Amino acid sequence: MKNLTILGSTGSIGVSTLEIVSTHPDRFSVVAMTAGNNLELFVRQIRQFRPRIAVVASTADIPRLKELCSGLDVTVLGGIEGLIAAATADETEMVVAAIVGAAGLVPTAAAIRAGKDIALANKETLVTAGHLFMNLVAEFGVRLFPVDSEHSAIFQSIEGHRCKDIGKIILTASGGPFLNTPAAQLSKVTVQDALNHPNWNMGKKITIDSATMMNKGLEVIEARWLFNTPVDRIQVHIHPQSIVHSMVEYIDGCVIAQLGTPDMKAPIAYALAYPDRITTGVKPLDLTSISGLTFFNPDHEKFRCLKLAYRAIISGESMPAVMNAANEIAVAEFLEGRIGFTRIAETIERTMNAHSAHNLHSIEEVLKADLWGRESAREICKEMVH
Ligand SMILES: NC(=O)c1ccc[n+]([C@@H]2O[C@H](COP(=O)([O-])OP(=O)(O)OC[C@H]3O[C@@H](n4cnc5c(N)ncnc54)[C@H](OP(=O)(O)O)[C@@H]3O)[C@@H](O)[C@H]2O)c1
Repeated sequence: MKNLTILGSTGSIGVSTLEIVSTHPDRFSVVAMTAGNNLELFVRQIRQFRPRIAVVASTADIPRLKELCSGLDVTVLGGIEGLIAAATADETEMVVAAIVGAAGLVPTAAAIRAGKDIALANKETLVTAGHLFMNLVAEFGVRLFPVDSEHSAIFQSIEGHRCKDIGKIILTASGGPFLNTPAAQLSKVTVQDALNHPNWNMGKKITIDSATMMNKGLEVIEARWLFNTPVDRIQVHIHPQSIVHSMVEYIDGCVIAQLGTPDMKAPIAYALAYPDRITTGVKPLDLTSISGLTFFNPDHEKFRCLKLAYRAIISGESMPAVMNAANEIAVAEFLEGRIGFTRIAETIERTMNAHSAHNLHSIEEVLKADLWGRESAREICKEMVH
């Protein structure tokens, strides 16, 4: 039996993780779960999975959650202290990091320091603080399993191989809903258009990141840290069918790829049960029913966010944290209808242009850079609105 903490149980990844847990009650049990605003779903999850600890992001919501949980044997906590308590609970062996955005940074770092293995969905932690996280993982001797489907694919494709034999990592990208939209029309697309992802059903923030292709940029940075590979050896191929989840080209010219029906339950299950493979309910792939698999290079001028992510990781130091913060603000402003779609890239670029990158020595310094990026991006968005 593996004891889990799920940070962000009410999100898309959290819900899929709990589906795997409920399919394998003999293998997994939930010690602690955390949520943001969706208390209604959270209470249903608490009733079903009976965690010892339930945490809500805002301390103001503690009384309401306590009331909703009356009669249940659960300790209700809130705020950052609550998230840390969930991440470091004594019985927990693995923490599923599925909070969205830089908000996942502190609890995930606390989990590593407490010696917990990590199933990492929250890519923003590696984007903002990759070098610090990988150092923590080494220092505390924990295992870090990727949940992102592309990184899980690479992880599966390098099993039994040595990182020094990797020639290139090729991340695949669906291209999102605007793959075939002319660049000149992007300024007019609506929030609903952008939320309409062709292949994946995900949370709102990552869905917008997929539409701008910032998601792929974040994944390039994530891959750089997870697989200790220089960024000039990480390429992106557009692959609209989302069947090949990513691939590794070795120095002898051989390519190993991982394929499957696009469903996050598969990479989640692999991270949870590693090295075992367990049933997931994911529809098996029938290659004979697919008319073709296509691959081509992304248009870096149309999808400027991808270009900005490469620029941020090449610049290094505090730049990726600032880029990520500006992206989180710009996406939130777009979702609120306050700025247009193409303003997302513009906000990020202007924030990066205004930033002088500096070294980050601690998580506290990362949080300061994150705050600077948020405040700067907010100001830029305000100017755009007026
Ligand atoms: N969804 C996917 O298929 C997918 C694939 C690969 C990687 N990822 C990555 O996985 C992470 C989660 O994505 P998602 O799509 O599952 O996101 P999501 O559906 O928006 O869920 C996010 C979770 O985090 C909670 N949360 C939000 N803000 C919080 C805060 N400030 N403090 C504490 N908790 C907070 C949410 O709570 P409430 O909902 O209760 O407010 C929810 O439980 C992201 O980093 C994303 O990039 C997702």
